[in-house]
Amino acid sequence: MVSSLLTLPSTFSRLNLLPKSSILIPFTYEALNSLKSHKQQRLRPLNHPLLYFPSSFNSSATHFSTSRNPVSSKSFDDDLVVLGIETSCDDTAAAIVRGNGEILSQVVSSQADLLARYGGVAPKMAEEAHSQVIDQVVQDTLDKAGLTGKELSAVAVTIGPGLSLCLRVGVQKARRVAGNFNLPIISVHHMEAHALVARLIEKELQFPFLALLISGGHNLLVLAHDLGHYTQLGTTIDDAIGEAFDKTAKWLGLDMRKSGGPAVEQLAQEGDAESVRFSIPMKQHKDCNFSYAGLKTQVKLAIASRNIDAKVPLLCASSQDRSSRADIAASFQRVAVLHLEERCERAVEWALKIEPSIKQLVVSGGVASNQYVRARLDQVVKKYSLQLVCPPPNLCTDNGVMVAWTGIENFRVGRYDPPPPANDPDDFMYDLRPRWPLGEEYAEGRSESRFLRSARVHPSLTSIVQASLQQQ
Ligand code: KG4
Ligand code: ZN
Repeated sequence: MVSSLLTLPSTFSRLNLLPKSSILIPFTYEALNSLKSHKQQRLRPLNHPLLYFPSSFNSSATHFSTSRNPVSSKSFDDDLVVLGIETSCDDTAAAIVRGNGEILSQVVSSQADLLARYGGVAPKMAEEAHSQVIDQVVQDTLDKAGLTGKELSAVAVTIGPGLSLCLRVGVQKARRVAGNFNLPIISVHHMEAHALVARLIEKELQFPFLALLISGGHNLLVLAHDLGHYTQLGTTIDDAIGEAFDKTAKWLGLDMRKSGGPAVEQLAQEGDAESVRFSIPMKQHKDCNFSYAGLKTQVKLAIASRNIDAKVPLLCASSQDRSSRADIAASFQRVAVLHLEERCERAVEWALKIEPSIKQLVVSGGVASNQYVRARLDQVVKKYSLQLVCPPPNLCTDNGVMVAWTGIENFRVGRYDPPPPANDPDDFMYDLRPRWPLGEEYAEGRSESRFLRSARVHPSLTSIVQASLQQQ
């Protein structure tokens, strides 16, 4: 029986190149054997130990570099075709993207009904739902692109952060596809993918840039110095903003079938945003961290004091009841976003001190599809003459395109694993990273929150990538 909670590294991975002191088993027996056999067939003897040329490339036309700068040879980008798989939370998503950024297909199967029924993600149910649809989602993605597995160059998959049970379904599928078609596999950090998808949309977006990543489970302000190199300026000390939107929707008795955020956003348009005086979180903390637990409690109390019954659907509510729900939705949204605005202003100031050349604030993750969020943050960046870059809503919420694209960015610089065997043994321990920071904390932004200090985490993506670069 495979334990999905075990998170020991099990492949020779770009992400397993930890500093020697912090890793026990850098290369497993299986990984070394796999590397040896593939080396004979397909590995080219280049400087980078993980460089690998897929058979679908015409190597004479390919300019593969061992430097950290992306290779943007036209033929290389056109020939590169990557399948991305995402199952970290409640969406089963896949997409096929070309190296030049062309999206060949994308499919998302959402667990909206489960979400509506339970008012949140139940890991075991979510795992089952992923398992039921994953094969079909991947097949539909290939069919829509008019491709077979043979025509792919690599498979990218989210390995964390997220729910272990759910991540496992995607990783297992990705390894099966990669194994069957002898393709390299790229392990993707979910939050890096949310940030980097902005580079697919906005071709002018160069490193360094500032990113605000806001979703159901994360509230991150990061300075993106380079691919795989991030400084965390702030994070949440308790809940993320998306979680606060979802709970507000549930307590207001809204239709959760498209998740709570869009329902609150829509109802807020009818309400008076000044009518309920919620207080802005963490005003006294002059840092870039977030907190939404207190605001959630304020919303709950406001709902209780107005005798709103969540069991009465909005459509059946009296006009007075409806308008008091709308006032709460609008007031909640205003204050939730004011908290973002305040933290973003400070983050821009910090970021400009560390990297004076930044020109953009990227806002991504599910909550970035909210139009009010976008409009307010646009006002913030204008004060600093920066540009706001938001991917379109369907690329802000979880999707396979962001995973495929992050795979492409990493693949171009040689960060990937050799193909796995066609079949993993039953007791194979998947490399899953449910709690996995993106970057190292900025000293000024360090939080003393016990919640953050006690969280069991993997070394950050940044520390792993930087250590591997130093070893080269
Ligand atoms: O990035 P995402 O799809 O999944 C996670 O990684 O969590 O984000 C989902 C979150 C949910 O909490 C959802 O309610 C929120 O994004 N969301 C929104 C909107 N659309 C999605 N929140 C506010 N306004 C929206 N329009
Ligand atoms: Zn997400």
